[in-house]
Amino acid sequence: MLDVAARLRAGESVSDGEFDGVFTSETESVSFRHWTPVTVARRAARLLVDAGATEILDVGAGPGKLCIVGALTTEARFTGLEQRPHLVEQAWTAAAKLAADRARFVHGNLLDFDCTPFDGFYFFNPFQEQIEDDEAYPIDKTIERSPELHKTYVASATAALIRAPVGTVVVTFHGLGGPMPSHYRCVHRERTFAADLAVWVREERAKVSPRGLSPPADDAPPDISVRRTESGFPHRG
Ligand SMILES: C[S@@+](CC[C@H](N)C(=O)[O-])C[C@H]1O[C@@H](n2cnc3c(N)ncnc32)[C@H](O)[C@@H]1O
Repeated sequence: MLDVAARLRAGESVSDGEFDGVFTSETESVSFRHWTPVTVARRAARLLVDAGATEILDVGAGPGKLCIVGALTTEARFTGLEQRPHLVEQAWTAAAKLAADRARFVHGNLLDFDCTPFDGFYFFNPFQEQIEDDEAYPIDKTIERSPELHKTYVASATAALIRAPVGTVVVTFHGLGGPMPSHYRCVHRERTFAADLAVWVREERAKVSPRGLSPPADDAPPDISVRRTESGFPHRG
């Protein structure tokens, strides 16, 4: 595993198959669907840091892939917040095996978590499983799921982003689960693994559109129609 870490640090490519070997076989088996691919994690972390983020929170970190790849390939510090304790445990183990010293993990729920220490946020559509019809590849069946919880989590994330100071950077992959608050301007967007990877920056004021007019295309919610169930979802490299 130290070879994987060295190659990531050196900017060399590492496949998802190689990286995911650090996890248990159950966690590895749902990676193609639920965990950010290595190339996307590297790119997302770089976009966050280049936009000025130094203390980054992965909201719903799973087994920590974004945080570990980010810590090995940028100068920032990464915290992964995750509701499933067994994934938090695996994330710590993986970070230790890969010597990713600037990655740490917290067991908890966004609803009770203080987001104020962070100036950068990553969202890989973390609340989607609440409303996913397709039961083919669940992460596991250990949590309660409901459309109401989806709404509550999206509202909580939205409120935290609105409270965040000007200059806060957000990167979304497959979206947040709802519209980005209008206080955020999309400063970059690219397609990767058949989905939008978008960078947003908190501005002084919310944009107010004249009544009846849609906001400009660039400011429209980017990718909420993109679901992880669509074809083209990342496959393991
Ligand atoms: C799609 S996975 C993404 C994992 C990781 N961010 C990545 O990109 O590899 C979403 C994760 O968010 C976690 N999650 C969802 N809602 C959460 C909440 N309200 N608080 C904490 N974790 C949550 C889930 O348990 C799941 O592990």
